[in-house]
Amino acid sequence: MTAEDELAGIGRAVGWDLGAEREVLAGAASGSRVYRVRVDGMDAVLKVTTAGPGQSAARRELRFYQTLARQVPVTTPALLRHADDDNLTAILLSAHPPALPARDWDLPAWRRVAREVADLHSTPVPEQSSWLDTPWLQQILDRSSVDSAGAYWSRTEAAHRVDRVLEKPEALAAAVAATEDRFLHGDCHVGNLLGDGSRLVWADWQVAGVGKPAVDLAFLWSRAHADGAEPPYAAMVDEYLARSEIDKAALQRSLIAAELGVLLFGWPAFAAHRTQAERDRLTRRLIQLIEGWNRSA
Ligand SMILES: Nc1ncnc2c1ncn2[C@@H]1O[C@H](COP(=O)(O)OP(=O)(O)OP(=O)(O)O)[C@@H](O)[C@H]1O
Ligand SMILES: [Mg+2]
Repeated sequence: MTAEDELAGIGRAVGWDLGAEREVLAGAASGSRVYRVRVDGMDAVLKVTTAGPGQSAARRELRFYQTLARQVPVTTPALLRHADDDNLTAILLSAHPPALPARDWDLPAWRRVAREVADLHSTPVPEQSSWLDTPWLQQILDRSSVDSAGAYWSRTEAAHRVDRVLEKPEALAAAVAATEDRFLHGDCHVGNLLGDGSRLVWADWQVAGVGKPAVDLAFLWSRAHADGAEPPYAAMVDEYLARSEIDKAALQRSLIAAELGVLLFGWPAFAAHRTQAERDRLTRRLIQLIEGWNRSA
């Protein structure tokens, strides 16, 4: 089925006229389909998730836009329309230009996102149990797959350093858990940040919820670094700390642990899609982090 047919079907299902100019946006690794559309003469983005394993995350994102979007102190797209039934969950959002690729971010841009992460984390922690399931990064630390991590990393230059960390993966989980809960974006990477002049517009709230603050910064860093960026780590920690009541040493140690967790347990499944040069870059970052981890012990 072409995107055109697909959208016509969705339009009929939800009763919206989705206009003629349509483009399938990149991304959508989540199982959702994301389209650029024109509705009522306005540029908009339609995100559609059909019945199946992805629909609960789609409903979580819809719930976010209906409730918490008004409370978080960062800018989000506006929810223009929505539809939700047994067959599909659809949200129509205001469209915004993409942010620059991570490699092209300058120091002020990185500082700003660190401030905005801290602002987001200052959102009062919601009490409803629906926001309380453990973020994926904490889950991979709690149930770390030591064997597959070992199998991948033992074939890299980090091999002899990795063993000691993998002997005690629970120490990483404990370091991440040592800070207080915050409201997190949960999928904090540059691809989910849109730009509108001087503001960032935060998109993709499918896995938002309560968890440990290091999760957002560590994931932002890991994805950006893998994409060739050199985020100014220390400056970003300073920006974050200036807006957040959190112990500096505990935050730093939790950030090392969380980024180690992303690399050790998250990256092996994705490394196959990366070039050898990119994989070597991940390995060098892993070695740096293990050295930092050993120093902080
Ligand atoms: N409101 C918007 N305005 C402009 N572009 C958007 C908007 N929402 C999403 N996009 C673009 O579409 C892409 C996919 O959207 P989104 O991240 O919400 O979907 P996803 O299915 O969760 O994707 P992925 O799993 O790849 O992160 C985004 O990375 C962004 O480039
Ligand atoms: Mg996304």
